[in-house]
Amino acid sequence: MEIQLWRELLDPYRQAVDELVIKFMHIKQEFQDSRMYSPIESVCGRVKRISSILDKAQRKGVDIEHLEEKMEDIAGVRIICQFVEDINTVVDIIRKRSDFEIKQEKDYITKSKPSGYRSYHIIVYYTVQTIKGPKRLQAEIQVRTLAMNFWSTIEHSLQYKYKEHMPDELRGRLLRAADAVDALDDEMASVRDEIMDAQNSNRQRANLIADILNNIENLYHIANEREVTKIQNEFFDIYKLNDISLLKRFNKQLDVLAETYRAQSLQPFTGSLTIKSTRYYN
Ligand code: GTP
Ligand code: MG
Repeated sequence: MEIQLWRELLDPYRQAVDELVIKFMHIKQEFQDSRMYSPIESVCGRVKRISSILDKAQRKGVDIEHLEEKMEDIAGVRIICQFVEDINTVVDIIRKRSDFEIKQEKDYITKSKPSGYRSYHIIVYYTVQTIKGPKRLQAEIQVRTLAMNFWSTIEHSLQYKYKEHMPDELRGRLLRAADAVDALDDEMASVRDEIMDAQNSNRQRANLIADILNNIENLYHIANEREVTKIQNEFFDIYKLNDISLLKRFNKQLDVLAETYRAQSLQPFTGSLTIKSTRYYN
């Protein structure tokens, strides 16, 4: 096939991968904006390279004319989760969406492949809108944990190096490594609640600090500059104490202060509204 024809063939797949990656990133964003734990850690995608398409077509005896129908992973998206449990959540989200039609699900989590490979695959039909009109195509979505991804990335590069001739000894080591990955995922699942708590409070703290800095910045527009500088210094003092409840109280006080300024019709106020940080320490 001529290079121009390849481009025409692959362009909609490129569009599909771009769109799918954005859609999954937005799911992550939505969870975070709602201050909820996101089952999606990261998302990436790729269009299969022409050389890989040709290799696979030859391996599987697929004619070029039937390529789009027979090759389900020309467009590929990978969703990485922190915990095995998150994979189910992501799969449920995909099942409920109206923009994908599920063709097939392959569960290599419950039962791994003979190589030791674990992942959940969903083949979907997805329609992209092009200047020539809508085009319905297939895409493969792989959902796996960080640990599973680590294993499969390493194994894939070794497979690539050895092709069909991977030494038995190495194959055995990879199988043992797959067991270790399994055990790691189990171990992580058992401390999932604690890890999630830690991550949530980190995120909560980051959001709170962003809120406080935003509030202080807003105060610059309506309050006396000396007053705001003082508040900012108080914030740094509290920040150093590394106590989220103090930060929360400080932020509430800032809200009250901003409200008071607003109520005074934006008149600079130099009275006794200073937030006394000492109040929060004990
Ligand atoms: P191909 O494996 O792609 O030829 O197609 P298939 O129809 O057999 O589908 P399958 O679900 O087995 O694999 C789809 C994709 O999953 C592959 O293209 C790889 O990205 C990944 N995969 C499957 N098996 C393995 C494995 O043993 N090791 C690694 N690293 N990846 C695998
Ligand atoms: Mg395969």
